[in-house]
This record gives sequence, structure tokens and C-alpha cells, in this order.
Amino acid sequence: MGTDEKIERLERKIDKRRIREKRSEDQSAIEGTFDTATIMILYELINKHVLDYLGGVISTGKEANVYKGFGEDGEIYAVKIYRIKTADANFMKQYIIGDPRFKRVRKKTHDLVYTWAEKEFKNLKRAHSAGVRVPNPIHVKKNILVMEFIGEGDISAPRLKDSPPKKPQMVFNKIYSYMKGLYQKARLVHADLSEYNILMWKGPVIIDISQAVTLEHPNAEEFLLRDIQNILKYFNQFKGIKLPTLKKAYKEITKV
Ligand SMILES: Nc1ncnc2c1ncn2[C@@H]1O[C@H](COP(=O)(O)OP(=O)(O)OP(=O)(O)O)[C@@H](O)[C@H]1O
Ligand SMILES: [Mg+2]
Repeated sequence: MGTDEKIERLERKIDKRRIREKRSEDQSAIEGTFDTATIMILYELINKHVLDYLGGVISTGKEANVYKGFGEDGEIYAVKIYRIKTADANFMKQYIIGDPRFKRVRKKTHDLVYTWAEKEFKNLKRAHSAGVRVPNPIHVKKNILVMEFIGEGDISAPRLKDSPPKKPQMVFNKIYSYMKGLYQKARLVHADLSEYNILMWKGPVIIDISQAVTLEHPNAEEFLLRDIQNILKYFNQFKGIKLPTLKKAYKEITKV
């Protein structure tokens, strides 16, 4: 089969499936998003039976769009597709240079985006193995990451920001233990941790971990302090909550 034919077949497949999705979903975000290369990768994922079809969009964020994806047995996944066109190469480089897992920093933006997606996949794996609740990563191919869907049915879980906890002390304690686990077991600093990157689904779930760095990274300490500050600031609004000082939290998290 020629490339054009493959793309057409895939587009038809996506189209057919798309009709089954509720029309109220944000279709415009799907249309015009996919470049040919991305469509080819989706095609490959469908051929490899990783996915059966792609559903509606969950979020259009600063670096990626997140879609629902469905497997052949109807299981649901979150599919994060990093945009190549609007990628900020300088931003990504700051978090890739200094990470011993990525010694060769690629020059072309699209290669950098592929590294970025692979970095999120690896970080999710490490966090998951360390017992930190994150979406379980399933598959990564170039700029497409398939992971566990966090939510109920096909409704994705709310962010901590939009869902203030009834038991803030418990949620804080859990997040605090995850920060320790990330540092001490996964040997990672999230570097963008806040109420925006935590979903609430039977407790907190940490997401959006592509920028997380290993402890050798020259800015790891600064990033960790910023993460702690964000979390303390968010929880400080709750009356009666007991929080550590920034200094104490830093010491406890980095204690080996
Ligand atoms: N595994 C998942 N299950 C369910 N929903 C998810 C999952 N991963 C991401 N989302 C949804 O997509 C949104 C964006 O995800 P993420 O933060 O990873 O991407 P981003 O491009 O950095 O977006 P933003 O610029 O909004 O931070 C999340 O706030 C959440 O609503
Ligand atoms: Mg985010």
C-alpha cells in the first residue's frame, strides 16, 4: 500500500469512528491538528492493535492535545499528542540538557519533541515503579504517548485546582509522600508540580511529567523548591491544615 493510500484509509477510519462520538465534543480541535507524520503514527498504533480508534479531545494544552483513545476491547486510554509546529525548542532543551538519559541532544525540533514524549514515558514508568500514583504509561511512538485514562467511564478526572478536597490534610499528606517517593525512589524532580498538574481520582494522581528531571540536573534543587512552594501555597488556603515550612519540607524530601 502506498503512503497516500494508507493515510486515506486511516483518515476514513478516524472519520468513521469520529461520527460515533458525540457531536458536541470539540471537533474543531481534532480537525486541522494532525500533520501527515502524526497521522502515520496513529495508523501504526492502530495496526499494532495498541489503539482501535481515537475519540474526542480532553484538553488542548500548551504543548500537547490529549484525546480519548479506545482499544479493541473498548478499554479507554488517554492519548497525548505533542504538537510539533508550536513546540518551544529552547524550553525543552533546558530540561533535556543535563539529563544523563539523553546525552545526545537532537537539533531538529521534531526530534526534540520525540525525545520529549519519550522522556514523559520514561518518567511515568519510573514514578509508577516508585509507587507514585501517575497514569500508567502504555506506549510511546514519536510524538504520541498512550497512557492509562484517569477518570470514570469516559469522563476524565478533575484537576485539584477545580476540585478542592474535602479532606485537604489527607490529600496534602499523600502528595507530600509522592514528592518524597519521586525524589528518593524515582530520583526525579517533577519541575512543574502544582494544583494544575494533579488530577483527583480516588486521591491525587500526578500528571504532566515530561519536564521532570533527574537529580543530576543542574537546576534540580531550584525546581524542587519551586514545586514545594507551589504545593504549600495551594494548601495554605485551607483552615486548620498543618504544613511543614519550605525548609523542613525540602530537608525531608531530599533525605536519603
Ligand atoms: N491520563 C489522563 N487521564 C485523563 N485525563 C488526562 C490524562 N492526562 C491528561 N489529562 C487531561 O489533559 C489535561 C492536560 O494534560 P497535561 O497537563 O499532561 O498536558 P499539557 O499539554 O501540559 O497541558 P497544560 O498546558 O494544560 O498543562 C489535564 O489537565 C487533564 O485534564
Ligand atoms: Mg499540564
